[in-house]
Amino acid sequence: MLLTDSVVNCSDLRSGKASPFRPSLRDWGSWIVIKRITQAKGLRGEVRIPGDKSISHRALMFGSIAQGKSHVKGFSMSADTAATLKCLRALGCPISVEQGGAVKVHGRGLFGLAEPDDVLNAANSGTTVRLLSGILSGQPFFSVLTGDDSLRRRPMDRVVTPLAQMGALISGRNSDQNLPLAIKGGSLQPITYKLPVASAQVKSAILLAGLYAEGETTIVEPQQTRDHSERMLAAMEARVAIASDATGHQVKIAGQPQLQALDIEVPGDFSSAAFFLAAGVIAPVSDITVLNVGINPTRTGFLDVLREMGAYVEVFNERQVGGEPVADIHCRTSDLRGVRIRGNTVVRAIDELPALAVVATQAEGETIVRDAGELRVKESDRISTIVAELSRLGAEIEEFPDGFAVRGPSRLHGARCLSHGDHRIAMSLAIAGLVAADETEIDSAECVDVSFPGFFDGLRQLVI
Ligand code: S3P
Repeated sequence: MLLTDSVVNCSDLRSGKASPFRPSLRDWGSWIVIKRITQAKGLRGEVRIPGDKSISHRALMFGSIAQGKSHVKGFSMSADTAATLKCLRALGCPISVEQGGAVKVHGRGLFGLAEPDDVLNAANSGTTVRLLSGILSGQPFFSVLTGDDSLRRRPMDRVVTPLAQMGALISGRNSDQNLPLAIKGGSLQPITYKLPVASAQVKSAILLAGLYAEGETTIVEPQQTRDHSERMLAAMEARVAIASDATGHQVKIAGQPQLQALDIEVPGDFSSAAFFLAAGVIAPVSDITVLNVGINPTRTGFLDVLREMGAYVEVFNERQVGGEPVADIHCRTSDLRGVRIRGNTVVRAIDELPALAVVATQAEGETIVRDAGELRVKESDRISTIVAELSRLGAEIEEFPDGFAVRGPSRLHGARCLSHGDHRIAMSLAIAGLVAADETEIDSAECVDVSFPGFFDGLRQLVI
């Protein structure tokens, strides 16, 4: 395999020169991309971001078990969603990708998927493996799910426990039930299940399995997590009900024979927009607008935190797209102050916390994030990786078992740092590189493709 590094710096970004490539001796087994970023004067202009990854996964998976053809516009073309697409094709669901990125899913109905003749590979995608395990628990055939090094280390007991309670034969390796996961589904019973951790992936796996169970399945969440599954399943005519009381947030689903296919327009991904918003509030002389961003309130904790830090962020042009709230977001360089974050804000900002750590390095005073132990079981241990990498750039950042503290403002300096193969760590470091003196090198930056293949192009478009 050809082995190259791509080297990009902001002077190349500004002049629009093509990225030079050079060979690496580090890893002969795969592509390694090293990105070089130099300090930017600022960011200006408008940018569009790819479709929401969480919603795109769901559109494919729910569409595959619906009755009829679902059309998906604004689909997120990323390595993670490609993994879902390949798994569903291997399960016998035809999916075509059209020019311009529209996707057509030829739904097979709840019981129309077929036994795959090989292992299903979810690559780096937790959403693929966890949601698919819910669907596969309802199938009367044998399947095996695996993933890359990172995904094989992540805990799957959180889905294995409830799905086994519902009657699926499901097991993985060791006490964490790590991948590979073998599943033989069949007739399922409804359960009432209290989630031990706030996780939309686990909630969605149980909701999907609940479609196959006779009677009503209830999920009690300690804190409300992203509700894209509830919205989409309801739009597909599943019987979903939501209620909140003192014990928590409850979602109920009734088992039923069919889901209706849907035409879905996927809004831009708030989690991708967050990197540009972070850059826009910390890079000097910046004034940017991110267009067509999903602002589902279960996802926008980071916006609230930015506002609390004193950032100028304006949400305008609010509208509904495909059952989800969408808007354009304008932000500019701001004087920021440190904040304390815990509880439900953490759940609503879980994927944005590495970017928040970068923003906090430029805020006056201390920013403390607690109750965020879940970060340790993401694509990397995001508490230890963001602390290690921002420390290399000169940040004052301290690690807690369930979070971190950042003391700012810091004058960051360029250094060689590692993405740890984690897309959100790579993009966070790129934003830090825009405000760090000299040059920042990000090793293994190719992982941005997991959620946002055009990330560096988008940045190039904005940098002045
Ligand atoms: C996701 C849920 C979250 C999030 C992940 C996507 C989803 O994970 O971190 O990036 O699409 O449901 P958890 O469910 O593990 O919190």
